[in-house]
Amino acid sequence: MRTIDWVDDAIEIIDQTALPGRLTVLRLNTVEELVAAIQRLAVRGAPALGVAGALGVALAARDPERAPAAVRLLETARPTAVNLARGARRAAARLPEGPAAVLAEALAVRDEEIAASAAMATLGADLLAELCGARPRLLTHCNTGALAAVVGGTALGAVLELHRRDGLGGVVASETRPLLQGARLTAWELGRAGVPYRVAVDGAGPFLMARGEVDAVVLGADRICANGDVVNKIGSYAHALGARRAGIPFVVVAPESTVDLETPGGAQVEIEDRGADEVLGYRLPAVGADQPPAADGADPAVGAVNPAFDVTPHELVTAIVTERRVIRLDRGERV
Ligand code: MRU
Repeated sequence: MRTIDWVDDAIEIIDQTALPGRLTVLRLNTVEELVAAIQRLAVRGAPALGVAGALGVALAARDPERAPAAVRLLETARPTAVNLARGARRAAARLPEGPAAVLAEALAVRDEEIAASAAMATLGADLLAELCGARPRLLTHCNTGALAAVVGGTALGAVLELHRRDGLGGVVASETRPLLQGARLTAWELGRAGVPYRVAVDGAGPFLMARGEVDAVVLGADRICANGDVVNKIGSYAHALGARRAGIPFVVVAPESTVDLETPGGAQVEIEDRGADEVLGYRLPAVGADQPPAADGADPAVGAVNPAFDVTPHELVTAIVTERRVIRLDRGERV
């Protein structure tokens, strides 16, 4: 089953906001429906967003007069993952040739991501085995599996490949506050694949590393800058600091479509802030269902800061694995 695809002249996605409770497929017939789905994270993850951007232009191509405005809407639906604007622009370049050409380009973006996932799984698993030896215990963050791509995935694809080789010693899925992509989505994918895992709160990651319970961190990226800085889900940087302190590898697995040589470093990347509600608007049954969080946002003097991504400086990255190459930043290799 594909996370996102073109089916009978519309886009179909797995609704990731319904997981792990329900596996639901949504049909999206307009760019506006797609943009709303992207913004509420019904479809998410850098490679999947690239495919969404490209397929969205195939929807827009039906109305050539409004297409340029629709493309702009798509490009800017979320700012941080470079794949979204890149996928949309690539398909939009074919607009003068008509809808069939746009769709062909969008399907090529989809097929390239599928092929990239397969290649990254092999290269990533090979590297982790080389760096860590037999049966490494891995920590991963956010969701980088099939749900973040079309099938397969990036970092989680490599983890699953190690499992297929009987070469995995264990997985910690970092829960990924505030929207729990790790606890909801990665755990769901690992469970379906029959891989035993443990979910940990994000703040536990560096401590588990210090205690010797993790052999490597492996995660994905939303944008890889020209200097090797890695922009990824908030919490990644803390895991990188923990990995450096514990002396274990920090490995990034991401397709070439996430490498952005036009952006010099992480300081130049727009980091999406998703607002206060995701941080303050939840209840913890363990402390009483009627117990509000420390601040519920009703007090105008109390706010929240909610960066959805952070920047891991290139000095903390051991290696970046794409479908074409392994870049050993720890050995001075350049993106
Ligand atoms: O906000 P999200 O869920 O779209 O963020 C996704 C991530 O940060 C992933 O780790 C990243 O896109 C890599 S996905 C292969």
